[in-house]
Amino acid sequence: MSKLSKITAYTSAIIFIAVADMAAAVGDPVAGKEKSALCQGCHGEVGMSDASMFPRLAGQYAGYIRKQVSNFQARTRRDDTMEGMADTVTEKQDLEDIAAYFASQKPMSGDNPLADSSPGKNLYVNGNPATNLYGCINCHGENGKGKSPNNSVFPVIGGQHKDYLVKQLNEFRSGVRSNDPAGMMGDIAKKMTDVEIDAVSEYLAGL
Ligand code: HEC
Ligand code: HEC
Repeated sequence: MSKLSKITAYTSAIIFIAVADMAAAVGDPVAGKEKSALCQGCHGEVGMSDASMFPRLAGQYAGYIRKQVSNFQARTRRDDTMEGMADTVTEKQDLEDIAAYFASQKPMSGDNPLADSSPGKNLYVNGNPATNLYGCINCHGENGKGKSPNNSVFPVIGGQHKDYLVKQLNEFRSGVRSNDPAGMMGDIAKKMTDVEIDAVSEYLAGL
């Protein structure tokens, strides 16, 4: 695909998903707190899990949480543990409420005061022109904190666990994870070296 048609494909995928998301009903975070008791067991009471195999959900966009859980249910995103957990959420309203609960928490954050001067920042902001790697900031926003809740296509990734980020980037690169709209993340990850994946994940985890 040419660069221009690729960008057109991205844009139409994003508009499609954004419109689909707006049509969804609004969740109730108070009801979601109770309904998410099971989820809190791994993802943390307020979505700030300590164990790096369990991604943080605190302040993640509700639309993104809903999409991922639906993808696990449909098996378009695979994970032995999460598939079973996703299957327990059978009511649409429950998913709305649970997603609203985690989304309403104080956004996930790391604790590295030196993150801003870590080597991965340059890649995050500028990408790698030599390999046509697009800067992550263009989609994931300043400090990986996302663009806006109205644009939940692009998740919050700043303050997420490093090991989890590395795992996801490796899985996008190998194609094990392929639930990204228009193959956006697969295209990105395939251009990344192991060293780049490690550096950018280290940077993001500290923010
Ligand atoms: C037994 C532990 C466990 C429980 C309980 C659990 N999860 Fe998960 N969850 C995981 C693991 C492990 C992953 C990461 C899968 C991977 O590596 O791709 C995950 C991933 C996710 C993701 C994707 C996050 C992202 O950033 O892409 C969401 C959303 C999620 N879980 C929501 C939930 C919800 C909602 C519940 C409750 C219904 C729940 N989880 C219960 C273990 C758990
Ligand atoms: C063209 C836009 C775009 C760019 C540039 C981009 N991403 Fe993404 N990224 C996405 C989209 C869209 C998703 C959501 C995939 C999905 O819906 O499952 C995503 C998901 C992710 C995830 C998974 C998050 C989670 O919690 O499951 C990680 C990690 C990630 N991106 C890292 C990066 C890094 C690092 C870079 C820069 C090297 C980058 N992205 C550049 C669009 C982009």
